[in-house]
Amino acid sequence: MVNRQRMVDLLQQMTLEEKIAQLLQLAAPFYDGADSDGVITGPMKELGITEETVRQAGSALGLAGAEKIKHIQQMHLKNNRLGIPLLFMADIIHGFKTIFPIPLAIGCSWDLELAEKSAEVAAKEAAVSGVHVTFAPMVDLVRDPRWGRVMESTGEDPYLNSMFARAFVRGFQGDDLTNDRHRVAACVKHFAAYGLAEGGRDYNTVDLSERQLREYYLPAYKAALDEGCEMVMTSFNTVDGIPATANSKLMRDLLRDEWGFDGVLISDWAAIKELIPHGVAANEEEAAYKAIQAGVDIEMMTSTYVHHMPELIASGKVDEALIDEAVLRVLQLKDKLGLFDNPLRGADPEAEREVVFCEEHRNISREMAAKSCVLLKNEEGLLPLQPSSRIALIGPFAKSSDILGNWSWTGVKDDAVRLDQALLAKVPDSLVAIAEGSGIEMMTEEHYSEALSAAEQADVIVLALGEHSDMSGEGGCRADIKLPQAQLELIARLKQLHKPIVAVLFNGRPLDLHGVYDQVDAVLEAWYPGSEGGAAIADILYGDVNPSGRLTMSFPYSVGQVPVYYNHFNTGRPHDPKDVDARYVSRYLDVPNAPLLPFGYGLSYTTFVYGELVLSDEIMTVDRPLRVEVTVTNTGELAGEEVVQLYVRDISGDVVRPLKELKDFAKVSLEPGESRKVTFTIMEEQLRYHHADLQFTSDPGEFVVFVGSNSRDVIECRFHFVR
Ligand code: GLC
Repeated sequence: MVNRQRMVDLLQQMTLEEKIAQLLQLAAPFYDGADSDGVITGPMKELGITEETVRQAGSALGLAGAEKIKHIQQMHLKNNRLGIPLLFMADIIHGFKTIFPIPLAIGCSWDLELAEKSAEVAAKEAAVSGVHVTFAPMVDLVRDPRWGRVMESTGEDPYLNSMFARAFVRGFQGDDLTNDRHRVAACVKHFAAYGLAEGGRDYNTVDLSERQLREYYLPAYKAALDEGCEMVMTSFNTVDGIPATANSKLMRDLLRDEWGFDGVLISDWAAIKELIPHGVAANEEEAAYKAIQAGVDIEMMTSTYVHHMPELIASGKVDEALIDEAVLRVLQLKDKLGLFDNPLRGADPEAEREVVFCEEHRNISREMAAKSCVLLKNEEGLLPLQPSSRIALIGPFAKSSDILGNWSWTGVKDDAVRLDQALLAKVPDSLVAIAEGSGIEMMTEEHYSEALSAAEQADVIVLALGEHSDMSGEGGCRADIKLPQAQLELIARLKQLHKPIVAVLFNGRPLDLHGVYDQVDAVLEAWYPGSEGGAAIADILYGDVNPSGRLTMSFPYSVGQVPVYYNHFNTGRPHDPKDVDARYVSRYLDVPNAPLLPFGYGLSYTTFVYGELVLSDEIMTVDRPLRVEVTVTNTGELAGEEVVQLYVRDISGDVVRPLKELKDFAKVSLEPGESRKVTFTIMEEQLRYHHADLQFTSDPGEFVVFVGSNSRDVIECRFHFVR
């Protein structure tokens, strides 16, 4: 248990310099270079700090390895007057050494239990390697696939993102963070609304109404905190004209006062100093002033607090009490992690050798990868492949190990199971011809002639296409979200062979699939599937696993539609797609309004038929929730999993209301011919929304309930909610 008094007593022994240094977080180079007697080297001059400051720093980021962490911690404690241990933090976003599919893929599994398990495995591998805190889950709601960091989120729906946020926090932290040394503290990010960066461009402006912020962008952060998430990270972007890192309205009034969060708030990398280029701080002193006033506790990788806080306090501009409360939060987190009694916590070289990248973990990653893939097209049941088929595996990802995604940090690409290896493990070599066919962004005639000869004897062409992992992730924003031209050309040329073509996609965002979806017979979205990716894909291609993934982010018909998302408003002049001549309605002249593939979409190797929707009543009240029943039948030849989705529409509200809002879902496994009655209960709380005055309440009135296999193909019924 946290011993608050012990921490208060410790705080009172600290000098002002020691307190301020506790709020400094330094990256690995400050420690990686630690020589035998712990003399810390590193880019100190860049930050203009002394070795003494480094010795007093409160936390480090980007370090792992049981022996290394033990050494650094022991050196640190030797040099730290009061024996205050270092906190080790790192970006363990979807796996530590055993890499799971990217979070956008995990979201497509709609499997909360397995998502929690993936975080638990990541935490265990990180903890035995000496890490105490992970900078995850990232729960930014996303509607713009141009943004490179959509790969880190679980998609466009606030409810589903909230459920995954909770699952990840549970997996990372467990329910006894102090004593379970195989867990790590979680840090939810990026607070807030980073996913709305204008133009889908990293670090760019975010501007939205408080109502939109509360209705769509805040729920998942709140869910993470309600699940006990220990830390919050500020986002780079502005919110209502003020960078989040200096935004007292967001950080003090909402996060701390309204939500009651009393954990550690850390800036994103250099975000405090970046208040200067943002234009809300004239210099580092003002940046430090605004950040501490906003309640930012830890300064990541800049030194404005170290340089200017003493003067700000001496001059009375900053009350030392603000420093004390920040330092106390940091000390309490260290105490909660048990670091004062056991500064090495979970760091254990023996355990590290045993659990990191162990078979059990890799099997869980393989299961998650298979559940995260989404079958987007499958004309004439081309998939699953016949084991006797001769296939030509062609494309830049045919033999690529770049399948871990952009946030795989300590993951080792060469340890990943490639698609070619996995296919050759399943079928005789004689049935698999392999050729690159093109690079990611370039193609030579030699490439093509290799592809041609591989394809000539093939019954089926399996294309392995996609984006380089650096084409998404932080700093990986793209204005054109098609596959690179070289790959589109490869498809077009191979299509002239008139052989069936399957495209397997490795990408970190919804793509504009022009030149792919319309050209091939089957499309399997594999995202970056992680350490066991090739094996999971091969399992699906040959039918050992029936794909069950469903999109959690819309695939636009064209980037010109962006942002395009399912829970949009109707407008005063909605466009009926059947009315092709309508002009004065909300539409484009050149593309449809609807995305190519909607939220919740995904195919299976079997088929599911929905019976009629049965409501417990036409009237719902606060005391009489509405029960919704539907019978789903597997009408195909193979067992499969269906994600039964329940949406609601509020016909008329105090403000405009979305055409659909996901309120619940159930992932059901059905044998061939099996039927299952799926029951949902709609509670009054699920009808609440933020009114014009920001009151979060429900209104009596008419509603529509939809149930279906995605946000487009649904059956519906009306009901009334009365007080
Ligand atoms: C990066 C990212 C953030 C990450 C941090 C530490 O800039 O924005 O998500 O946790 O720095 O690496």
